[in-house]
Amino acid sequence: MTHTIKKLDKNLINQIAAGEVVERPSSVVKELLENSLDAKSSQITIDLQNGGIDLIRITDNGIGVDKEDFPLLLEKHATSKISSVEELENTLTMGFRGEALASISSVSKFSFKSKPKDGQHAHQIDQNGEISVCSLNQGTQVEIKDLFYNVPARREFLKTPNTEYNQILKLLLGYFIAYPKVSFVLNHNSKQVFAFRAEDFQDRVAKVLGNKFTDKSIPVFYESSNLKLSGIVSKPEFCVSKKPEQLLIVNNRPLKPDVFSIAVKNGYGSLIFPTQKPQFILNIEIKAQDVDMNIHPRKLEARFKYQSILFATILKSIRQALQKVSLVKNVEIQKPSLDSYLSHSPAGKSDGSSLQRPSLQGSSYNPRPQGSFGPRFQGMSSYMPASQRQSLMGDYSPSSNHQSAGLNLDQTNTQGALENSSQNQDLDLSSFQNSLRYLGQLSNSYLLFESKDGLTIIDQHAAHEKVKYFEIRNKLKSVQKHTQKLLTPLEIDMSIPKIAILNDAKPVFEKLGFDYDINQNKVLLTQVPANLVKINPEKLILELIDDFLNADTKNLIELEDIAINYAACRGAIKFGQSMQPLEVQSLLKSLDELKEEKYSCPHGRPSTIGISHDELEKLFLRKK
Ligand SMILES: Nc1ncnc2c1ncn2[C@@H]1O[C@H](COP(=O)(O)OP(=O)(O)OP(=O)(O)O)[C@@H](O)[C@H]1O
Ligand SMILES: [Mg+2]
Repeated sequence: MTHTIKKLDKNLINQIAAGEVVERPSSVVKELLENSLDAKSSQITIDLQNGGIDLIRITDNGIGVDKEDFPLLLEKHATSKISSVEELENTLTMGFRGEALASISSVSKFSFKSKPKDGQHAHQIDQNGEISVCSLNQGTQVEIKDLFYNVPARREFLKTPNTEYNQILKLLLGYFIAYPKVSFVLNHNSKQVFAFRAEDFQDRVAKVLGNKFTDKSIPVFYESSNLKLSGIVSKPEFCVSKKPEQLLIVNNRPLKPDVFSIAVKNGYGSLIFPTQKPQFILNIEIKAQDVDMNIHPRKLEARFKYQSILFATILKSIRQALQKVSLVKNVEIQKPSLDSYLSHSPAGKSDGSSLQRPSLQGSSYNPRPQGSFGPRFQGMSSYMPASQRQSLMGDYSPSSNHQSAGLNLDQTNTQGALENSSQNQDLDLSSFQNSLRYLGQLSNSYLLFESKDGLTIIDQHAAHEKVKYFEIRNKLKSVQKHTQKLLTPLEIDMSIPKIAILNDAKPVFEKLGFDYDINQNKVLLTQVPANLVKINPEKLILELIDDFLNADTKNLIELEDIAINYAACRGAIKFGQSMQPLEVQSLLKSLDELKEEKYSCPHGRPSTIGISHDELEKLFLRKK
């Protein structure tokens, strides 16, 4: 017996199609909002009940729909936005498929009211296609009640009203930012949640994501005949390890940043920890024919004609934006109240002698990790002629290629962008050597300087670690290997996971200067890197293996970077080690050669911080 083939009825077709377009209340909000924006509305009100499950109502003041077009509103593949393939390729409107209303109206209690600018009356259409006169100001109001009331299987999949509401908020955030010139009102369960007036981008971002987001971000800009890039990216100190705010807006359409979030991150190089993620809002304006928006059922993704060029351009623009600003992390000090001083004094006593110095870093600040007490300044009086001093800098030889070295891990086609960025001549990077006057060393750990902005403090270990990091990176690139044969090969017992790492990462170990043979669980170590000979070889290889195991990666490039970090840390001036002024100068010179990389250690922690005159005045209660 054969099966009989039947043509499905229109309503069933729309319900099936709705499976793709309408996933949950937020997808309905998205479609209706995009229609209002396509209608050139300058004012949009969104009313929700119960996370949008019971009601979604969107009211706009856009161009509206003529009465004659009403019969086609709920027809599938009926749109006012395109009429040919050429127009599809060139369209800049959010909608173009002519299927959203057909789908939504098939799975909800639906009503659509509209009055065009010159129309005499407003009209409405319900989900059965009934058209009647109604009252409405110019614009359109679409009301969706009881989403999925007739598709119980889908209704069951809806989450709690709170979760659905949060999904809507997440979605709206992108549109609020992409359309700062549109005023939006959001009401949930009859309470107003947001009301934004038309404003500029920066103000809107501050309202949506908070003032801190804009204060801690820097602008990005690039323009060519085919592409305009604008937006803001977080300063390194405002990058986060979890849940970053990342928004890509392409031709006014908020999209998932996807691969471009890697481009942005790579733009930071080693200014941030590998685990940290930048926060950003990137606005891309591109020719409509260079981007295909028609690849995702809910238009959440796009395909770009020149993706790798765009990737490289974003990376380069972020790099340049970061280079242009001072990356010295400015410390914000809470203004201490008089109470905060008095509360430290013994009960009843408040004479000056018992006042405590306010802590720079709160209670955890520990100026002398080595155990001795009180900050100790080593001033210029300890300056000694070069001949009497032994340099701590060893065989340090700065490389001219630091800028791109930090980004050699890029796996995408970014080389061109990097080369261009390192050739950029108009960078305004303040030279440490010219702008800092050395004051002394604090706790044999921090270097203190006067700068034109106030006090600059450099963490000597973190800063030198960065210098060493690039030094080692560059040495690894050279053909000549700096290795040291062990006089007697060293036999070390190892666990299976450690042996596995030695096998898997052998090319990395060899590149670093190690050589060994493995026999079951025994390793015969015959050669170590020359710059690490001071470390007990067994300890050295075991520590490195531990770092590799902790990193939980088999990617050889990442492992090489971990090894370089390890070697840089071990080879750098220690915290608690005394430094002579000329050594400090030499460190500043090496740091200057690192250009914008000089402000952080290889792990992305700041190595340089500044306390401005302003902050000092606040600290001493000279300024309110
Ligand atoms: N708020 C609105 N203001 C003015 N016209 C609207 C509005 N909402 C819908 N329309 C009209 O209804 C038509 C159908 O809308 P619908 O969302 O179904 O399709 P679309 O926007 O053309 O394409 P897509 O399915 O890709 O969203 C639109 O082309 C537009 O002419
Ligand atoms: Mg639409």
